Amino acid sequence: MNIVILAAGMGKRMHSVLPKVLQPLAGRPMLEHVLEATSGFSSSPRVVVVGHRAEDVKARFGGRDDVTFALQEPQLGTGHALKVAFDSLDPSDPKTLVCLGDVPLLSRETIAAMQEEASGQDLVLLTVELPDPTGYGRIVRDEFGRVTAIVEEKDATVQEKAIREVNTGIMVLPTDRLERWLSNLSNENAQGEYYLTDVIGLAAAENATISTVHPRHVYEVEGVNSKVQLARLERMWQRAQAHRLLEDGVTLLDPERIDIRGRLTCGRDVEIDVGCVFEGDVVLEDKVRVGAYCVLKDTVVRRGTEILPFTHSDGAEVGEDSRVGPYSRLRPGARLAGENHIGNFVEIKKSSVGLQSKINHLSYVGDAEVGARVNIGAGTITCNYDGVNKFKTVIGDDAFIGSDTQLVAPVTVGAGATLGAGTTLTRNAPEGKLTLSRARQMTVEHWVRPKKKE
Ligand code: UD1
Ligand code: CA
Repeated sequence: MNIVILAAGMGKRMHSVLPKVLQPLAGRPMLEHVLEATSGFSSSPRVVVVGHRAEDVKARFGGRDDVTFALQEPQLGTGHALKVAFDSLDPSDPKTLVCLGDVPLLSRETIAAMQEEASGQDLVLLTVELPDPTGYGRIVRDEFGRVTAIVEEKDATVQEKAIREVNTGIMVLPTDRLERWLSNLSNENAQGEYYLTDVIGLAAAENATISTVHPRHVYEVEGVNSKVQLARLERMWQRAQAHRLLEDGVTLLDPERIDIRGRLTCGRDVEIDVGCVFEGDVVLEDKVRVGAYCVLKDTVVRRGTEILPFTHSDGAEVGEDSRVGPYSRLRPGARLAGENHIGNFVEIKKSSVGLQSKINHLSYVGDAEVGARVNIGAGTITCNYDGVNKFKTVIGDDAFIGSDTQLVAPVTVGAGATLGAGTTLTRNAPEGKLTLSRARQMTVEHWVRPKKKE
């Protein structure tokens, strides 16, 4: 099928400089959701109709070979928008699917169902029955139940307004007849626009076959015209994702308090406490537990590991049977081999940490290679940066780093070495030995503390 996504409207009610279709839902622009849902259904590039702030939309989604843009300037209605896209369609493809950029949660299953239905029909409309149809175009049927027209709310009679079956705006149309129908649209209606929905009346008058398909979930066809609707849809989507996790056996202490902005993949017996945010691609293997108020982004947590509250992780891999947090920060390239303890106010960046190593308190480990069974004391800092260059710290297996140590990189601590507390290490520390840099302690005899005059 050809695919056209209408996205030229300005979204006045958003009260935002960001174009409506770039407003994020579940962390990604609404248009990105539509592009993901429709990917693979068309052999030719999908046509996005842009108008209001077209450059911003093109900047965000340009440069890919499965999307082209058609500029609609000025925006004279949805029928006009499709007409503008027409020259970009493949005329030999018999069907054209129209989607709306502000209806972000349409599912691939629904598109597949429409595609299948379209093989035996001239037109397929995605419709839904709503308890409150206000604002939507109504589906008008004849006494045999055949669709004869769509009437916009603003043009509807009292009887038509009572119809609860509404137009979602998503439809499959016959490509070859489309050009003629679009050219015959008029803008003599309440909004002075060229309505795409008037094509249905023209098609019915020519006895074209029109059938309807319904989505599995109503949220799939909810349009977003305001921040209120966006927030509502966000909650519906988050609830749906939480529900899916629960169905798969994940324990959520409160399904109303989880946010997934991307893809969260969970193994068996995973438990997630309240207030967590998952971004990008996150994998939690079997028996992983995530404490309250963690933010995990593009992170893999291997089986049996516990992430304690208020941990922030971005681009990290945490090995099996570890304990991370509370208040840990894992940054891109943090790789923990397993059975690690990472404690409060520990930041790890672009570093590997070997099996069973512990960094329990108040440390910064960056650009480092830490071996197995290493103990890093409180307040240890890898001084990896001279303001221009980054340098590496290497710590061998079984090393013991005393508290409050600075490792001035590039520097290597040999296997089994011990560094005394407070050391500023500027040269390599040999294997198996105690190394420390520390001013000798002294006590001043006969010293008297100054006293205030009475
Ligand atoms: C439209 C339908 C209505 C349906 C509803 C579902 C028409 C006339 N009405 O109404 O039957 O119930 O969607 O949500 O089609 N757009 C353009 N160019 C334009 C006008 C709009 O690209 O000139 C785009 C908008 O960016 C938006 C979509 O088309 O993504 C829908 O436009 P909107 O003005 O929101 O239509 P509705 O009044 O909601
Ligand atoms: Ca709309």
